[in-house]
Amino acid sequence: MNTLQRVRFIGKPLVFLLCLLPAALAVGDAFGITGQLSANPVEDILDRFGNWAIRLIIIGLAVTPLRHVTGWNWLIRFRRMLGLFAFFYVLMHFLTWLLLDRGLAVDPAFQWAGILEDLTERPFITIGFAALLLLIAMAATSTAGIRRRMGRRWDRLHYSAYVVGVLGVWHYWWQVKKDTSDAWIYAVILGVLLSYRIWRRFRRPMRNRGG
Ligand code: HEM
Repeated sequence: MNTLQRVRFIGKPLVFLLCLLPAALAVGDAFGITGQLSANPVEDILDRFGNWAIRLIIIGLAVTPLRHVTGWNWLIRFRRMLGLFAFFYVLMHFLTWLLLDRGLAVDPAFQWAGILEDLTERPFITIGFAALLLLIAMAATSTAGIRRRMGRRWDRLHYSAYVVGVLGVWHYWWQVKKDTSDAWIYAVILGVLLSYRIWRRFRRPMRNRGG
């Protein structure tokens, strides 16, 4: 089996299952099969999906720098799946907030005013929502056919992954009440990844100038 076959037949199914695991555990815990949710089950689910969203956004952003540093070009084949799973977890996080936290599933008629107020007047939620909209645009254009048709515009749109990362960490930071250690970890990793990409971008013209 060559590298590409190993990626396709072993790596991709494995990464798919690993990415699905947190969601499966959340559902399992909600039904008391794999464990239990905490005393505040809605917040528990919201936090789990939010944390996996930010982790997967950062892991997805790490693919290209890791590929450059290690020379493992096959890593690129996981990037789309990681991005789509990040979108999946943000969407689940958003739906948990909308349907359970804001109660749209319980009382659809009377919740819209509160939802709109949260979206427009609680800045950390506005920021999270902006990140969700960007992710929707990226997920909707993630197929090879659309990528070909969009050309350079696709690259520009998909650089927004960094904006999503910054918005995601900012959103997280803004709502942390006491312990900021996880927010620090996410911010530092994101800062390193962003600095690397900026350094690569500005290094290239200098190298070209030097021949
Ligand atoms: C890229 C998009 C997003 C990311 C990465 C993200 C991530 C997170 C994370 C990591 C947390 C903290 C979890 C914890 O306490 O351990 C969080 C909390 C939260 N997020 Fe998001 N989120 C995003 C978008 C959204 C959106 C679109 C909404 C709703 C419109 C939203 C609403 C909330 C709420 C209500 C909380 C809980 C705040 C609290 O506990 O008081 N998030 N989010």
